[in-house]
Amino acid sequence: MKGVLLAGGLGTRLLPMTRVTNKHLLPVYDRPMIYFPLQQLVHAGIRDILVVTGGDHAGDFLKLLRNGHDFGLEHLGYAYQEGEGGIAEALGLAEHFAAGEPIVVILGDNLFQDSLTGPIQRFRDDPHGAMILLKEVHDPERFGVATVEGGRVTRIVEKPTAPESNLAVTGCYLYDHRVFDVVRGLEPSGRGELEITDVNNRYVEWGTLKHHVVTGWWADAGTVPSLHRATGLVAADRGNSVLADFGSKAAG
Ligand code: G1P
Repeated sequence: MKGVLLAGGLGTRLLPMTRVTNKHLLPVYDRPMIYFPLQQLVHAGIRDILVVTGGDHAGDFLKLLRNGHDFGLEHLGYAYQEGEGGIAEALGLAEHFAAGEPIVVILGDNLFQDSLTGPIQRFRDDPHGAMILLKEVHDPERFGVATVEGGRVTRIVEKPTAPESNLAVTGCYLYDHRVFDVVRGLEPSGRGELEITDVNNRYVEWGTLKHHVVTGWWADAGTVPSLHRATGLVAADRGNSVLADFGSKAAG
């Protein structure tokens, strides 16, 4: 299975820090934010990875990550998103790279405490349809929110004002090759973006969306409070999580 790491966007919720760099290059405790999702992919055995980024600072990803050797990779691919068309548009840029294979997609500002090997392996064993990772949160209105009925996700609503559940849709998604047809058929949302939630709801309609609820902590680091929280979680977790032993290796 191939991996797609989405690291575009303007990061406007983190201004003024993001005036001079890309959000995903900002530090979370002891390393750049993007290290965390990249390390998760590598930890799960994904060796063929595409980083999709954009904006004025895209070249800095190449300077930082180079060929991926620090992460145990033989090579690392890059794609450039022109404009700010949203997560699903960025994903569409990975079609050539995916070449018909199933993919695991992770957002560059998403940090998971626990290894994602379990759910990724579950999808690898049956790579049909899609799978989303959910996490119980106390502020679901900030995220895509899933309604689960009879053991299946029956709908997802993006940033609902009155959430039907406390199950946030995290930024890790697994898809079969049909995802690129889905992306092609999307219309921009109210915020002018192609929404990943619309992609996932198409798989709900098809009855082929699986889900996995993560138990360890999960953080998105896209706002000042959530970046602050993520930094605290990582700091407190030094030595305990799958992320722990990594900083020294990549710093060298
Ligand atoms: C995006 C998705 C949302 C998901 C979140 C996870 O939100 O649209 O469904 O819950 O990532 O981090 P955004 O960061 O674009 O507001």
